[in-house]
Amino acid sequence: MNLKVDVNKGAEILQSGGLVAFPTETVYGLGADASNEAAIRKIFAAKERPYDHPLIVHVSNFKQVAEWAQDVPPVAQKLADAFWPGPLTLILNRQPHVLDILTGGQATVGLRVPRHPVAQALLSAFGGGVAAPSANKFTHISPTTAAAVEEELGGRVDLILDGGDCEVGLESTILDLSRAEPVILRPGMISAEQLAAVMGRPVKTRELVETEVRTPGMHQLHYAPVTHTMLLESSVIQAALDTLPLDRLPVAVVTHSRFVFSGNHVQQVVLSNDPVVYAHDIYHTLRELDHAAVRCIIIESVPEAEAWDAIRDRLTKAAATRHSVRE
Ligand code: TXA
Ligand code: MG
Repeated sequence: MNLKVDVNKGAEILQSGGLVAFPTETVYGLGADASNEAAIRKIFAAKERPYDHPLIVHVSNFKQVAEWAQDVPPVAQKLADAFWPGPLTLILNRQPHVLDILTGGQATVGLRVPRHPVAQALLSAFGGGVAAPSANKFTHISPTTAAAVEEELGGRVDLILDGGDCEVGLESTILDLSRAEPVILRPGMISAEQLAAVMGRPVKTRELVETEVRTPGMHQLHYAPVTHTMLLESSVIQAALDTLPLDRLPVAVVTHSRFVFSGNHVQQVVLSNDPVVYAHDIYHTLRELDHAAVRCIIIESVPEAEAWDAIRDRLTKAAATRHSVRE
């Protein structure tokens, strides 16, 4: 792509109320002018997403946060210095002018400064905030390539900016700073430990907190492949393969360990045992397997270590969904 030409075209489309899909370092986003209600409605229509799921506003630097949020605590600046631009979303009290459609009617707004150079260039050229959820249909896996965006939303967006495959591969860590204590609403590759080190205080994870806040990605059907998916301990996978009903074959087994699984109609896909590399590859792998002729995906469960938290979260969701088994 010609970065300058395409990004300028993208900024013009945003200015005129259109939709631009663009790469971020986490996943591709489906962008619209965050202060244009009609444009934001197009996002919900294209994704077939219910209105009670709020959107993240992407801005080009920390200074712009004040345009969207108020009562910004000092710790937000510290976190921005440490992690922005990067895969961290902060939930802050919103400015009164922020549209209800962006926030699901809540008193807070999600803000993020992405670091992908195409996202940065687009935000600079546009100048304002860009509302952008992941560029997939509601409940589907987030796209990590331009081709995946085309597959999800082709024909429903005015422009797809191709910035190659996404470096991180999983959605940003969402940290809620709007309450008395900071809470991670969605784990990401920036870990609780890293956040706590910068803030100088412990961070709670969502499971530990009784909350009435809208639940990012907590919908039962989030992040799911279409194919029936199971998450199993490596010690039980071979037995599961040996007893799998015929209508679940062929089967793909996604692993990261040294175990080798075998059987008729068993395809093993070996991913890295490094969580950073695994995160980069997992959505793309699941998307490819959705296209392959497999009737079932078995994923080897991942280590308990914190570095795998975000991955475990997404895999658990992928496997929790009631699947329509392919005929
Ligand atoms: O990495 C990412 O965060 C990507 C890229 C494109 O930036 N975006 C993304 O957006 O994952 P989306 O809409 O697919 O997921 C954002 C989640 C939603 O589940 C939403 O519920 C939550 O963030 N969220 C947004 N604003 C919120 C708010 N004010 N309070 C609580 N949750 C919020
Ligand atoms: Mg999403």
